[in-house]
Amino acid sequence: MAKLEILTYPDKRLRQVAKPVTEFDDRLRTLSKDMAETMYGAPGIGLAAVQVDVAQRLVVMDLSEEKNQLRVLVNPEIIKQEGCISTQEGCLSVPEVYADVERAEKITLRAQDINGYPFEIEADELLAVCIQHEIDHLNGKVFVDYLSRIKQERIRKKILKETRLAYA
Ligand code: NI
Repeated sequence: MAKLEILTYPDKRLRQVAKPVTEFDDRLRTLSKDMAETMYGAPGIGLAAVQVDVAQRLVVMDLSEEKNQLRVLVNPEIIKQEGCISTQEGCLSVPEVYADVERAEKITLRAQDINGYPFEIEADELLAVCIQHEIDHLNGKVFVDYLSRIKQERIRKKILKETRLAYA
């Protein structure tokens, strides 16, 4: 297994729109394991392939406290949604930035597992929010896109400044 580099906002590669996964092979298995290791190491609760510069519709997620309930979502899509919930979100690609975002409160998700078997789950609260956040990544979208222009600009400047300091 290997840890992968996580792209940092405002990196343009975070804007890639991921393509559907069609091959459920060892490459996909290795990628999902590497992504899981990268997510656990960060540490974070979710990671989309676009965040490690792979334009494929693949997400790993683990919301458990013990970090022993890994979910792998291949080609995830929301087929039903209802309600509205506002929660504070963060993102491994936007370090140390947290902001309230409105999402659907309840969703029905359709996805495939690592072997290509289709499944559906109903999700609410944190799981629903996390799934919507990760699917956004697969569509080239980052949670700060929901904030005001002024806030986005502030975040961009803050991160660019910190990145420059880190490499100075
Ligand atoms: Ni994120």
